[in-house]
Amino acid sequence: MITQEHTIEPVLTPEQIQERVAALASQLDQELKGAEPILLGVLNGAFVFLSDLARKMSLPVQVDFCRLASYGTSTESCGQITLSKDCELDLRGRVVLVVEDIVDTGLTVNWLLRHLRARGPKKLKLCSFIDKPERRETQVDLDYVGFTVPRGFLVGYGLDYNQQYRNLPGVGELKFCS
Ligand code: IMP
Ligand code: MG
Repeated sequence: MITQEHTIEPVLTPEQIQERVAALASQLDQELKGAEPILLGVLNGAFVFLSDLARKMSLPVQVDFCRLASYGTSTESCGQITLSKDCELDLRGRVVLVVEDIVDTGLTVNWLLRHLRARGPKKLKLCSFIDKPERRETQVDLDYVGFTVPRGFLVGYGLDYNQQYRNLPGVGELKFCS
């Protein structure tokens, strides 16, 4: 994997993120009241967001993960999707909240939602840390969004460039040096 020379420009501070995640958690607590939702994280990117969100929620949640491979290059999706790790909990009759890091073209999450619907959940909701609408290729119904960032390749808070920067506490935009 070739890593081009680049810089990172700040987009979201750790404080902004924590404040927004806390607000989302209490919204989810209210709107899913009475349920024991399954938080289904999409690996690898959603691991940071899911762990903060789960710890800020007070509902009795269960946590599971799946993994999809959709990336042709390090910054551009090729639309070819495969499931490399399925979820393990039984979703039948359950309230399932899919937790994503970012929705870009929308191809990955739409494929996943179709796959999960076939498992018979009572309710299937989608929560993405970031909604990046500029390159959307298919309509996506996002139930919960942390932040809308119009464009750019973002890293940090779970998001990576060539598997790097997932552990940054804030989010930045990757800029390639010419
Ligand atoms: P989509 O299928 O184009 O919506 O993209 C799905 C996946 O591409 C996301 O779950 C991310 O893993 C990755 N991705 C899309 N945009 C970015 C970005 O700006 N930074 C890091 N990863 C991204
Ligand atoms: Mg992802």
